[in-house]
Amino acid sequence: MNELHLGRVRKLRTVLVGAQWGDEGKGKIIDVLSDDVDWVVRYQGGANAGHTVEFGGRRFVLHLIPSGIFRLSTRCVIGNGVVVDPLALHQEIQEVQATGIPVQGRLFLSDRAHLVLPYHRAFDAGRERMLAEGERIGTTQRGIGPAYMDKAMRTGIRACALCQPDFLEQVRVRWEESADRLRRFGLDPVGMDSWVEPLTQAARALAPLVADTATLLNDAIARGEGILFEGAQGTMLDVDFGSYPFVTSSNATAGGACVGSGVPPHRIDRVIGVLKAYTTRVGEGPFPTELVNDIGQRLREVGREYGATTGRPRRCGWFDAVVARHAARINGVDLWAVTKLDVLEGLDPIRICVAYECDGERVHTVPADSRWMARCRPVYEEWPGWRGSIREVRNVSELPNAARRYLRRIEELTGVPIGWLSVGPGREATVPLDPPGIGL
Ligand code: GDP
Ligand code: IMO
Ligand code: MG
Repeated sequence: MNELHLGRVRKLRTVLVGAQWGDEGKGKIIDVLSDDVDWVVRYQGGANAGHTVEFGGRRFVLHLIPSGIFRLSTRCVIGNGVVVDPLALHQEIQEVQATGIPVQGRLFLSDRAHLVLPYHRAFDAGRERMLAEGERIGTTQRGIGPAYMDKAMRTGIRACALCQPDFLEQVRVRWEESADRLRRFGLDPVGMDSWVEPLTQAARALAPLVADTATLLNDAIARGEGILFEGAQGTMLDVDFGSYPFVTSSNATAGGACVGSGVPPHRIDRVIGVLKAYTTRVGEGPFPTELVNDIGQRLREVGREYGATTGRPRRCGWFDAVVARHAARINGVDLWAVTKLDVLEGLDPIRICVAYECDGERVHTVPADSRWMARCRPVYEEWPGWRGSIREVRNVSELPNAARRYLRRIEELTGVPIGWLSVGPGREATVPLDPPGIGL
């Protein structure tokens, strides 16, 4: 395992995935690791993601641009598996540039990435409004599901169209179809006149970024360059392996990195899973370890658990080892990056869910059926907590014994060693474990 760690072999191709329901701290870990790579590649999702990067007392939230953008030696790719809202991306580029970070020549948009257009957003928001309580997914209303729906229906518009003279005509044809669909659902189609001008401007600004990124990346691999694939969302929001239907519409798991970028599976060296030291979820759907009590409230306040994209309060709960094992298995996680350990300080005891109990049965894997998962009750182990801040810890040996025992138990339950520990939102609050694994 050691050769898979840190920068000892500099030019690794690494996939980084969220191991829970998103917001594990992927943005922070990508920013830390991208110090050492040539390319950072987003491979799925869209502007539903909110990835936070903090350094030098500044805080940035990225939705579409990969979190490697703040490392100037890194080039960034938005891969073909991403659905890209041109208006959102145009605005985000302007925001990043306003901070003095150059984007031109460093950011490439796959010519095969599908576009999210205003009618997708309208459909997403309208459908959520129409659904009954209990059926609603609680989407980010960024048009993600409808854009992937058009992709699968073969009625999508791809980024290569941004460079074509009849781009607006292509959009008009699809908008008319979608207006019919919206009316059939009793929804109001948003008039194209209200967004055609900003869309034209966005298309003009984005056209120079459009490239055959699969060729760029495979050429980079041939030159021996290092690549970090940035997953959005998390394993439990994956359209196949998450808590369906309360999921997003793409493959957030490691397999998505290949189809979402055009890089073949045998070119990937390792998978890093990002694991929050407790569990959160935004939106609807089953969440066996959810704490609807003072402890949940405390995790939300201390962990600042409010959505980076929508501002919604995140649901909070204890660490769920059933979910983490599922993530380790589906993604083939080699190393964990465990984040937000600092948030647990002062809680005593700390609980870990090791299995579920459902209809009198002991359950050790994530059920396919969400309704069944919603009936699962957690089976907990209790571990002693610790007092005092660990935010200044930079070496594992400085951690309180109770914190080390908690982390060691996570490794035992998942069969995966910890490679990085995060004890605060900033770059510097990161503890690499080299060699990986908590020694007791
Ligand atoms: P992502 O979607 O996985 O990139 O995660 P988000 O950015 O949506 O949410 C993670 C939040 O936790 C952000 O506000 C980060 O700044 C913050 N964060 C990341 N790591 C740590 C950590 O170790 N400790 C604390 N206290 N905050 C962290
Ligand atoms: P990052 O990358 C947390 C959730 C939504 C909703 C479901 C479907 O920051 O971890 P969608 O808009 O994708 O159709 O919504 O998925 N969701 C996220 N939750 N973090 C995210 O991204 C999410 N992206 C989508 O809340 O429950
Ligand atoms: Mg997020």
